[in-house]
This record gives sequence, structure tokens and C-alpha cells, in this order.
Amino acid sequence: MDDVAVLGKKGYTLKKEVGEGSYGKVKCAYCDRLKCEVAIKIIDKKKTPRDFLERFLPREIEALKRLRHPSIIKTYEIFETSSGKVYIVMELGKKGDLLDHIKLEGAMKEDIARIKFQQLASAIKHCHDLDFAHRDLKCENILLDEHLNIKLSDFGFSKYLSRDENGKPILSKTFCGSAAYAAPEVLQGIPCDPRISDIWSLGVILYTMVYALMPFDDSNVKKMICVQKQRRIPFPSSQHLTVECKDLIYQLLQPDVSLRMHIDQVLKHSWLQNPKPKTLSPVSTAKEGECSQKPQEGKPEHKQSPKSHFAKGKGEKETDPLKDGWF
Ligand SMILES: Nc1ncnc2c1ncn2[C@@H]1O[C@H](COP(=O)(O)OP(=O)(O)O)[C@@H](O)[C@H]1O
Ligand SMILES: [Mg+2]
Repeated sequence: MDDVAVLGKKGYTLKKEVGEGSYGKVKCAYCDRLKCEVAIKIIDKKKTPRDFLERFLPREIEALKRLRHPSIIKTYEIFETSSGKVYIVMELGKKGDLLDHIKLEGAMKEDIARIKFQQLASAIKHCHDLDFAHRDLKCENILLDEHLNIKLSDFGFSKYLSRDENGKPILSKTFCGSAAYAAPEVLQGIPCDPRISDIWSLGVILYTMVYALMPFDDSNVKKMICVQKQRRIPFPSSQHLTVECKDLIYQLLQPDVSLRMHIDQVLKHSWLQNPKPKTLSPVSTAKEGECSQKPQEGKPEHKQSPKSHFAKGKGEKETDPLKDGWF
């Protein structure tokens, strides 16, 4: 039986394709029961590697069943046919993903980015509080509903934290996700709590939202790790960001895992509080495109060129960027 027939029997009318995953297509369908459109991820188990079937797919299904939050894509049902096809029926991200949105609309105004980032951070808090790490946070995995609300998706690399006899999380050293969004400890294979590495990816996402650029050039991962560890974060003068917003980005992109924020601290950061901060930043130093990378898949367009003003931030010691005049 083909997909149309299988899904028809279940009350879904298959429509156009909305995305292509690593191991299957994602299609839009009309659901008779819910009287709305849904997204269906279709995975053919015969065409997927063993590792995916034994490790990643069960984890994705487990996460989808356990996580319920207004800013996480809802899962309506998951079923498998005798021929080995798995259908994951989800809420539809009607307005596509955040990467395409940014490519189309450019950088977001801070007030818009704040609302989106609050939604994303609260979705991550829900995951982390339940001991799940997402491990593949990137703009492509953040979907938007019809009102452009954030809907976190793709839990294919997510992990439920195992704990030792003392209740301490067992550290993970598996590389997951995209290099451009990955924390330096992940890229170096240093074992750590994967929730802490999610926080770094949040920093890359927030940067991309407000600059429509990527903070690091991932065309040479070794070099990128050096830049990350020296905390050389370009803040192009093309966008006038508040000090609070830059500070949050800077705090999220903390290379030292022991100093990086916990999700609760992220949500308490001044940039995310009301009344909304209005302070404009003083003159910043980097020029647009000079040190950042456009948020596109494939090869970066701009190389990161270390500038002398970054020298102050060398090393992994905590510095106060506001005092040091980094902004
Ligand atoms: N619920 C959904 N609504 C709309 N589009 C979706 C949905 N789920 C996935 N997609 C689209 O399909 C793409 C691949 O799905 P994803 O779950 O991210 O697979 P993969 O794990 O292979 O990256 C996404 O980048 C997105 O464009
Ligand atoms: Mg994906």
C-alpha cells in the first residue's frame, strides 16, 4: 500500500511535501478528525541505517511522546505499517522554518526577536527540566506557526539524560548537530552535560535572529574552535543592538562550560524582562559581513578575520565585555 492509501485509511488526505529530512520526507496532510492540516514525517525503515533505527528513532519518538509545551511542535500520533514505514503525525509549522524566514525577512527587530527567543527558551526549559537535551538546535529545526510563533521540532538527536547512582547526569561526548551551532566542547568531543551545550546553540540562534548572520565561520572547524574559545564574537555595527541583547549573546556563547548560563538564568536575563530595555548600544567595532557568515546552508560567504579589538577577550577567563568596551 502506498502512503496515500495508508494515510487515507487513517483519515488523512495527503498534500504537498513541506520538507525533506535525512531519513524521510515531511508532507502536509488534511486530518478529518482534527479538521485541520497536519505535517507527517514518513520514515521508511528499510531505507535507513541501523544506528538510526536502534538509537535515534526511538529517542525521537520517546521525546515527542514526553514533551508537551506550547512552543514545541505537538505530536498527534505515531504509527507503523507492517511493511516498516513509520508515520509521525505532527502539528504543521505553517510558516516554515526560522532559517527561511530570516533569509526572506532579514534581521529581526529586537522586540520581535525577544518574543521569539522567550518562546524558544521556555521550550528549552521544558526539555531540560524533564532531563531532555535537544542537541540539534538550529534555525532549520525551529518552525513557525501561522502567527509566526516558535515551534521547536526535530528531536532526532535528542537525548534523555541517564543518571548515575548519585543522581548525577552521565556525561555525553557524542557529536550531534551542525558544526556552526555546536559548542566548542561538543566539537572537541569533551564529555559534558548536553543541556549546557544546548545553551551555546541558543546563543548562535539569537545572534542569527538579530543579525541575519552566523557568528562563526564553520568552513574550518579547527579555526572556528580557536575563535570560539577566545570568545571572539563579532558584533557588526550594521545593527544597532541594545547592550542587554549583546550581553545575552555574549553570555550564551561562553566557551567555559562551568561558567555558561543555565536555562533558568537565561530566562531571567535583563533583555528578556519587561519593561523592555530601550538602551541603545555605544559604537561597535566590526563591519557587516567582515566576521560573520550569512545564515545559509552550504559554504559560508565570509571568512572570520580576527581583528585587533578581539585580542582583549583572548583566553577563557571571564571578562566583563561592557567594561572592556567590546560592544
Ligand atoms: N511539523 C512540521 N511542519 C512543517 N514542516 C516540517 C515539520 N516537521 C518537519 N518539517 C520540515 O521538514 C524538514 C525536515 O524535518 P526534520 O524533522 O527536521 O528532519 P531531520 O531530522 O532529517 O532534519 C524541516 O527542516 C522542516 O522544513
Ligand atoms: Mg532537521
